[in-house]
Amino acid sequence: MNSKINFSPLEYEKPSTEDLVKRSRAFLELMKKRRTVREFSGEPVPEEVLVNCIEAAGTAPSGAHLQPWHFVLVRDPQIKKQIRQAAEKEERINYEMRYSEEMKKEIEKLETNFEKPFLEHAPALIAVFKESYRIENNIRRKNYYVNESVGIATGLLITALHYSGLVALPHTPSPMRFLNDILKRPGNESPIILLPVGYPAEGTRVPDIKRKPVDKLLTVI
Ligand SMILES: Cc1cc2nc3c(=O)[nH]c(=O)nc-3n(C[C@H](O)[C@H](O)[C@H](O)COP(=O)(O)O)c2cc1C
Repeated sequence: MNSKINFSPLEYEKPSTEDLVKRSRAFLELMKKRRTVREFSGEPVPEEVLVNCIEAAGTAPSGAHLQPWHFVLVRDPQIKKQIRQAAEKEERINYEMRYSEEMKKEIEKLETNFEKPFLEHAPALIAVFKESYRIENNIRRKNYYVNESVGIATGLLITALHYSGLVALPHTPSPMRFLNDILKRPGNESPIILLPVGYPAEGTRVPDIKRKPVDKLLTVI
């Protein structure tokens, strides 16, 4: 039986047009500075900041409000080491066998390889899991728009980390099922991304990439 949900007045304050423009411009400038970082200083990050960013990710909209996500915050050096070893095992196979020549060409310019020292150097790793389905009263129930919902939550997480002043790397050492074993997550969850998070190492350089200009990514009709 479906239980009803109460409705209450929306908390909303309408900004002036001037403020709308000002805020959108300021946010755009902030987001232009977000970069994927692959070298971290070992400096620890306050746990509260990470928890706040993960809680912010959990405000994401989700299909039928089923919130099909789970986050694991890893700080333990031993667990980070295990994750690095398992990830490098998969990535070695990816680089040597699984990646097509086309894909290798695409990632060549980023100068990445199978070695993932950042999985140990970053003071924290956040593993994002999607709940492909859920179990309620021993019954398997469907979740809806899982990939879309978890993708949005991950976007909010990356944005929150950047807004707070940290850097992150969206990492996908696929297949990532090893994360279920190491982090003891149940079978209805699948890892979708692993985010090393922290401060950049001193002197960190990032690839000089260009983003699509707005007229190439937007059609206004
Ligand atoms: C779904 C996804 C998976 C990614 N996987 C990896 C990865 O495994 N290793 C890596 O070094 N970068 C990875 N990246 C980072 C991208 O290479 C990076 O976002 C892109 O080069 C653009 O750079 P920017 O984030 O600095 O704008 C991934 C990004 C996304 C969104």
